[in-house]
Amino acid sequence: MKNLIVTIDGPAASGKEKISKYISRRWRLKHLDSGILYRRLAYILLKDSININNLNEIKNKLQEINSISFQKSKKIRTQEISKFASKIAVYGFVRNFINKLQHNFVKINKNKKGFVIDGRDIGSVVFKKADLKLYIDVNPEIRAKRRYKQLIDSGEKSIYPKILKDIELRDKTDILRKNSPLVIPKNSFIIDNNGSFKETINQIKKILPKI
Ligand code: C5P
Repeated sequence: MKNLIVTIDGPAASGKEKISKYISRRWRLKHLDSGILYRRLAYILLKDSININNLNEIKNKLQEINSISFQKSKKIRTQEISKFASKIAVYGFVRNFINKLQHNFVKINKNKKGFVIDGRDIGSVVFKKADLKLYIDVNPEIRAKRRYKQLIDSGEKSIYPKILKDIELRDKTDILRKNSPLVIPKNSFIIDNNGSFKETINQIKKILPKI
């Protein structure tokens, strides 16, 4: 039987992870967070002092990497890694490398009922033929407030105006990049996540049973 693929795209801190986890539990689909792969790669490059403006240095490093863990970790959730991940995500060869890992993940886990995959280009580029595509919409101020609270709750120091500026900068980098910019994928449902989670879930419940 063909695996079901649900894609979730949207800007930084739009709640894609929480929504994906909900869908994963409710419809028993395996969750893959593509942002983790960009973050883990950024972490590796940073740790090995790779100059990210030197494309050959990155390319050589990619040749040494056989696999990247899909596991979440607190060490890759910092603001520094967020910015770094956004910077390397502009390179086409980096995106191809990460996209291959995602396709392999789906291939290897083919006995699963299906997948819910979130990111910035999942419905528009990586899994264009997905069964269902969602795009999460939230204004930058609400995203910054939520991210600020998340960082404070996890014990990190944080300043709201700086978070907002970082989010706006990441939006700009994601939307304006030449390779796979953040777009609303064709044939996707737009989910308004400006309100409560319950309101968001109600929109999703109306769409998901159709699959
Ligand atoms: O979603 P998350 O914030 O963890 O992703 C980290 C960064 O990786 C994003 O800011 C974005 O620039 C990049 N990314 C991407 N395409 C994806 C997932 C993440 O460009 N599919």
